[in-house]
Amino acid sequence: MKSQVITAFTILTFSLTAAHAVEGDPVAGKQAVAVCQSCHQPDGSGMNIPGGESWPKLAGLNAGYLYKQLLDIKEGTRKSPTMNPFVDMLNEQQLKDVAVYYSQLPPNEGKGGEKATDEQLARGEKLATDGDWNRYIVPCSSCHGSDNQGAGDHFPGIAGQHAGYIADQLRAWKSGKRDNDPQHLMLAIAERLDDEDIVAVSAWLSRQPAKPAK
Ligand code: HEC
Ligand code: HEC
Repeated sequence: MKSQVITAFTILTFSLTAAHAVEGDPVAGKQAVAVCQSCHQPDGSGMNIPGGESWPKLAGLNAGYLYKQLLDIKEGTRKSPTMNPFVDMLNEQQLKDVAVYYSQLPPNEGKGGEKATDEQLARGEKLATDGDWNRYIVPCSSCHGSDNQGAGDHFPGIAGQHAGYIADQLRAWKSGKRDNDPQHLMLAIAERLDDEDIVAVSAWLSRQPAKPAK
């Protein structure tokens, strides 16, 4: 059972990771992000906001992934009232430029997992790296790449992302608020996680170092 599931995901991952590099100009991107910095910060580190809407870290994420998210937000397939007015200021080439610009910034530390207990961290690590086969939860790393550092354009790095943002996204998939994931891969995971799982896995992931995008 376990090996069949892994094979299925390997094939799926492989078929989704065909690379198509984003053609963007990081110098032009640097100009265009002036309007983004109040939230995503000049170094792309974003901000963990306890109890509020956290701003994701963008530095070092894959450019193809960032560009897809920006297009999805522009086209409304990913609903974000906060982001919409800013994405609307940029044309498609500028969205490519900013995606390439952020992907080239060195990744910073994730925040928000500082107060997690040892028990929460152990539970989070198990979900992220081993999954929970009794509940049909495959490990996050089976799609998000080894050490959850990301795999190609479709599977973003989630190690070192802010805990508040990770948890927000998991809850958004669970409730149907976010549904722009290919083949509903994230819905299938998120709907099996309870809130304690979400808090634990978000905290553990936020404390892992992120490596620069490949
Ligand atoms: C007012 C604060 C704010 C500003 C300004 C802002 N953003 Fe965002 N951004 C957010 C929030 C909040 C989210 C998460 C939205 C959600 O939950 O879906 C986000 C999400 C994103 C994402 C998706 C990241 C991911 O990992 O999926 C990208 C890419 C992004 N923003 C780029 C930009 C760019 C480029 C600009 C400027 C043109 C910008 N943002 C301006 C708050 C902001
Ligand atoms: C079956 C494959 C698969 C598994 C397993 C999986 N994910 Fe994902 N995940 C995805 C895909 C695909 C996306 C990108 C969705 C999109 O394009 O909008 C994603 C996106 C995300 C994002 C959004 C990142 C961002 O920057 O916006 C978070 C957070 C996330 N996953 C957390 C997790 C966690 C935590 C686990 C383990 C409990 C997990 N995922 C397991 C496929 C998977």
